[in-house]
Amino acid sequence: MKLSRKEFLKLSFAGGAGLFLPFGVSGCGGLTAGNNSAQGSAGALLKSAARLPEPFTIPLPIPPVLEPVHTDASAEYYEITQKVGRTEILPGLKTEVWGYDGIFPGPTIESRRGRQSVIRHRNELPVPTVVHLHGGKTPPEHDGYPTDVVMPVGSREAGHGNHGEHAELNVIGEGTFDYKYPLDQAAASLWYHDHRMDFTGPQVYKGLAGFHLIRDDEEEALGLPAGERDVPLMICDRAFTEDGSFDYPSLDPSLKGEPGVEGEYMSGVLGDCILVNGAPWPVLEVTNTLYRFRLLNASNARRYRLALDPPPREGASFVQIGSDGGLLAKPVNHNKIEIAQAERFDVIIDFSIYPVGTEVTLINELGVGSTAKVMRFVVAREGTEESRISPKLADLRPLSRSEATVEREFRFVRGGAKMDGMTLWTVNGEPFDPDRIDANPQLGAVELWKIRGLNLEHPIHIHLASFQVLTSGGGNGDAGPYNQGWKDTVSLASGGEAELLIKFDGYRGKYVFHCHNLEHEDMMMMANFEVV
Ligand code: C2O
Ligand code: CU
Repeated sequence: MKLSRKEFLKLSFAGGAGLFLPFGVSGCGGLTAGNNSAQGSAGALLKSAARLPEPFTIPLPIPPVLEPVHTDASAEYYEITQKVGRTEILPGLKTEVWGYDGIFPGPTIESRRGRQSVIRHRNELPVPTVVHLHGGKTPPEHDGYPTDVVMPVGSREAGHGNHGEHAELNVIGEGTFDYKYPLDQAAASLWYHDHRMDFTGPQVYKGLAGFHLIRDDEEEALGLPAGERDVPLMICDRAFTEDGSFDYPSLDPSLKGEPGVEGEYMSGVLGDCILVNGAPWPVLEVTNTLYRFRLLNASNARRYRLALDPPPREGASFVQIGSDGGLLAKPVNHNKIEIAQAERFDVIIDFSIYPVGTEVTLINELGVGSTAKVMRFVVAREGTEESRISPKLADLRPLSRSEATVEREFRFVRGGAKMDGMTLWTVNGEPFDPDRIDANPQLGAVELWKIRGLNLEHPIHIHLASFQVLTSGGGNGDAGPYNQGWKDTVSLASGGEAELLIKFDGYRGKYVFHCHNLEHEDMMMMANFEVV
């Protein structure tokens, strides 16, 4: 990718449709290269050279909750420094992370519904960064548009972003920027992560991700598990080099020059080590009571089918109470949970069904060998039950097809544009162009989007606007078991399709929607809509 984005776009469109190459004749050895479908994920496996620990030996870390630096009548003010940190992820080795406050995961932010959070991000990393609050209803200037960069402290002339497109970057902060989040939205498990144009995959992989939870009175009145029994679980996969560094196949590992990954990883980077809250296959001691787990798949390319081993003798393994956008109308039972990148499942596990002393392993049925295990719970002692699962959770009005005023179709495919011999990932055959708007929904409107993934699995994420899945998978005509409630990300299986009812609420302006396989996103599977 030696061309600037502008030059590249000119070249590819000069040839028009003639540049569309049939699948299988791309410069990277064809469509199936790197499709690790056996593991249910698009991508190629990177194997660690470092020695990985025995699973279930390291205690589950809980990211610290960030304290505001001050508070006024309507807002909490926070400060986060994005910087390099060194941490022991693998026993006896140090891993360099690029983290919020230098840690991975970053600190958890906890906000109240309707109270603004203002977060001053200071960039002490060597590259430009962008912060996106995933799931947030945020005005466009604060949403982390991929070219709205915060430059490193003191680096104006330091030649950052010298990959030819610097001129097109919109520098919103020189060293720092105050991201303002109104958070006028229901209690939910959001997360924040880097979103820098062309470099989101490597920058998230290096550690730029954290939880942002919204709480509200309605949820607190339900008596769900709280305190130590309300546990965020950020699941992701990584590979490590021999000295314990994160291994990622960037073309330019400094992330200052050429973007992109080595050809065979074009479909996604899969690691062989599963981390939960930054620890490899950790273990958590629990009491024999209800626990709430906020599951987040923060992997670049890996998807999971989670199950408990052993499953409970009676009842469901997981009682789902919430999805991406907050609480469901009522609890939904699952014995397995399929979770794609960026999706959240808020679930209750009832450990009272297991005798004290039982080891319960959270497994990944889509994994093989080391990636088939996620973490372990040990039912260590008796506990007093203080919580319950109420049969009615949130007031959630299902949208109906007849409310949609506009219908649109988007295909997520590989093809339609090439760069340096690589067939890119595209939306309706077009690579991302910050200047092209593909949809102009009206503020307040409901639209029906029919989306389809033609050749591989793609988790599709829409900024700002949450949606309800009307149908998915094609076939039985419903949303499927894993698409309950308000969503911001929906998983498309290979060849799969979904119909979404999207409510364009909140703010006018330009936002992105994209594939959340981060390698697909960086390789241009992204487009714009502008709420008018
Ligand atoms: Cu989780 Cu556009 O991102
Ligand atoms: Cu994709």
